[in-house]
Amino acid sequence: MSKLARRVVLSLILGTLIALLLSSVPSPVTAQSLAPALGSISGEKLFGQQCGACHSVVEGEIRVGPSLANILGRRAGKSPGFNYSSALKHSSLKWDIPNLDRWLADSSAAIPGSVMGYRQPDAAKRKTIIAYLCNTIPQPNSSNDQSSGTDRK
Ligand code: HEC
Repeated sequence: MSKLARRVVLSLILGTLIALLLSSVPSPVTAQSLAPALGSISGEKLFGQQCGACHSVVEGEIRVGPSLANILGRRAGKSPGFNYSSALKHSSLKWDIPNLDRWLADSSAAIPGSVMGYRQPDAAKRKTIIAYLCNTIPQPNSSNDQSSGTDRK
């Protein structure tokens, strides 16, 4: 009787050990599910991938490029503390949506002599990134008066 009980206990222990071993082996399914789902990528994610190494949306946070906090409606080359190229500083451009779109499509063509060097041929991606940049702007009066001054496209 006690021999049988011992055998049961032993096989239970063995079973648990095997189960533990098996569960610690990484399965290929997990690796696959980590791949980004293209098509449903968010503006925040795209910004992180495409711009985040050089830009922050936090005011005053300078990386390789200037902070992009409140960029919509701002004059080009005016983020405090950043040493712009003279091309960007003297461009007298205002960052509205069409200008941002041209800039992201081909920054060197939009402002020759600028030093960002970025090209995004995919209009949908540009739109997603610009929408993200616009949404990071704090809304001073969040009443339902949204008819004025937003993009007309
Ligand atoms: C490799 C670094 C780098 C990457 C990547 C990059 N930028 Fe820039 N960005 C810069 C630099 C440097 C400047 C300043 C250019 C100059 O002075 O000519 C700049 C300037 C800008 C400006 C003008 C800011 C101002 O105050 O006038 C905007 C807008 C901008 N970047 C948006 C973006 C967006 C959006 C992305 C991603 C889609 C991006 N950048 C990717 C480095 C980068």
